[in-house]
Formats: sequence, structure tokens, C-alpha cells
Amino acid sequence: MAIKCIGILTSGGDAPGMNAAIRAVTRTAIYNGYQVKGIMRGYHGLVTNEIVEFKSQSVSNIIQQGGTILKTARSKEFRTPEGRKLAYENMKAAGIDALVVIGGDGSLSGAQIFANEFDVPIVGLPGTIDNDLDGTDETIGYDTALNTIVDAVDKLRDTATSHERLFFVEVMGNTAGYLSLNGAIASGAEAAIIPERETEVDQLAELIHNGFRKSKSSAIVLVAENKKTGGALGLKERIKKEFPEFDARVTILGHLQRGGSPTAKDRILASKMGATAIEALSEGQRNVMIGIKNNEMVYVPFKKAIAHSSQMDLKDMDIVKILSM
Ligand code: F6P
Repeated sequence: MAIKCIGILTSGGDAPGMNAAIRAVTRTAIYNGYQVKGIMRGYHGLVTNEIVEFKSQSVSNIIQQGGTILKTARSKEFRTPEGRKLAYENMKAAGIDALVVIGGDGSLSGAQIFANEFDVPIVGLPGTIDNDLDGTDETIGYDTALNTIVDAVDKLRDTATSHERLFFVEVMGNTAGYLSLNGAIASGAEAAIIPERETEVDQLAELIHNGFRKSKSSAIVLVAENKKTGGALGLKERIKKEFPEFDARVTILGHLQRGGSPTAKDRILASKMGATAIEALSEGQRNVMIGIKNNEMVYVPFKKAIAHSSQMDLKDMDIVKILSM
């Protein structure tokens, strides 16, 4: 069946650049003769029938805005077969023939299930600060979040240096350590703690003995939020036990990493990916996420995108260590 009307939604955690992606999808679709409908609050809006007509002007003046004008949610109803059936009925009643879903791994898993259950053409865009989708070098929002982390660490560095203190700075990333590792490289932090590599108290001891005590009077350690790492508070406790003389401070950056105006890099990535999503649907692609590999747009099957099987390059951990000596 020929596609006439495309629905767009954003789902899961918001990420800077989602609006640039919504704009690109909308305008490229209209340029190619499709009708566009915006679905509010992610899959939740499909279930509750919050669907609005989108024109070119609906996406004016949003490329620079963080968050998502479509709002977002993590829908419980859509996880049930009844919820998805209702979503499909509402989608059909609104005349929507295909979907563009912008979100992270949970959102793309939902897209895969929905597409298989109801034979709906769906193309996904990787919208998450975590950078934890396979088959793409970067996700929309990751670069902005990294820049936010660098900015925060630069500021904390002033206090760490002045007070000669050790700081544990907790960053987001869900189950992945990309924000921690690359945030550490970019901010010149003394160490990165990531779930991909076990952190022994010994490693921290080495950091404290060889770094903090010998050549440095202050240190900043980036810690990925995670049960495995124990987060920044968990590490502080571990340090307190082993080195009671150390009064480490903790800063949890939290949701401020998800906000703010997207960087030029994220705006360009989102714009190119949004345009490519419409090309993909026109070519008859379905069940694929748009990725970027070596500066080229690629189609990544949902199954691969959400597999979490690609390995992080742990050599970069040595870079953090060598460059902060
Ligand atoms: O996936 C994006 C993310 O910000 C993760 O880094 C984090 O673990 C999670 O979402 C936080 O979710 P919420 O906004 O529901 O607290």
C-alpha cells in the first residue's frame, strides 16, 4: 500500500536535537508530497489518540530548542497487546500509514514489536544522550550532553583545585559508559569509571596514591550511573572505607545533561537523519533505524540497533590515564 500520511513521535528520555529531527522529518515529508501528523507524548499519544495535523509552520523556530515539542513519555499501556491494538486502531483512524519514531533502545524495541504485530512501516531515529545504540557512530543528543558535562566539569575544576579536593562526578548513560569515558577525555578528568570495565578498589587506590598524592592536589573522576559502578555515592563510600582521610565530594549531574540547546553537530546529525528517514520510507524500507557510519547515512535493522552487542573501545581508557598523569 502506498504511503500517504506519516506520523512522527518522540519517546523515552528527551534528547537535545529531537526538535531538529522533528523539523527535518516534517519538512522533508511535505516536500515529497506526504501528509504529516504529530503524535503527542510518544506511544502514549497513539493509545490515547492525541494526534495533530502538522504543517511546515508547525516546526518553525524549533531547531535551536532542547526537549521535544511533541512531548515524550515511557508508555506502560503500549507494553500491553491491548494498548498496542488501540494504538493501531487510532493510527488507522487518523489515516496514518507509516511512522517515524525518535528515541532510544526502549522506543525502538517498542517500534519493532508494533511493526511486526501490525505490519506497519516504521523507521527509527536514534534519539538518546546515552549513545548506546548499535550500528551508528553517534546518537542525536550525545554531543550536546557531552558538551554539558565538559562545561560542568570545567566549573567544578575551579573548586577542586582551590580546595585541593577529590570530586566524583556522576554522569548519565543508562547501561553504557560513553558519556563518562568521552566526558573524561574531553574535560581532562583524572579517571573514568564505566560499567564496561570492573572498578577495583585497587584502581582507585592507584589513582589516589600515584595521582592525587604524588603529583596532584586535586582530582576529578567521572562515574557512569550504574549498579555495577555503584554510582558516585557508592564510590565515595568505598573510598571512605579504604582511605578515611579522604573527604571526597560528589556531584550528580542528573537531568541537566538532557537539556539545553543542541550543538551544531547534533542539529546537523538530526537534520540529515530526519531527511534520510523519509528517503528510507519512500524506498520501501521498514524496521530500520537511521545510523551514521564513517560520515555516511546507513540503515540499521531494529534488531541490530537494540542488540547492545557492539564493544566499546577500551583502549580509550588508557588515553584518560596517560593524559591525566
Ligand atoms: O536514556 C536516557 C536517560 O537519561 C539515561 O541516561 C538515564 O538512565 C535515564 O534516561 C533516566 O530516565 P528518567 O528521565 O526516566 O529518570
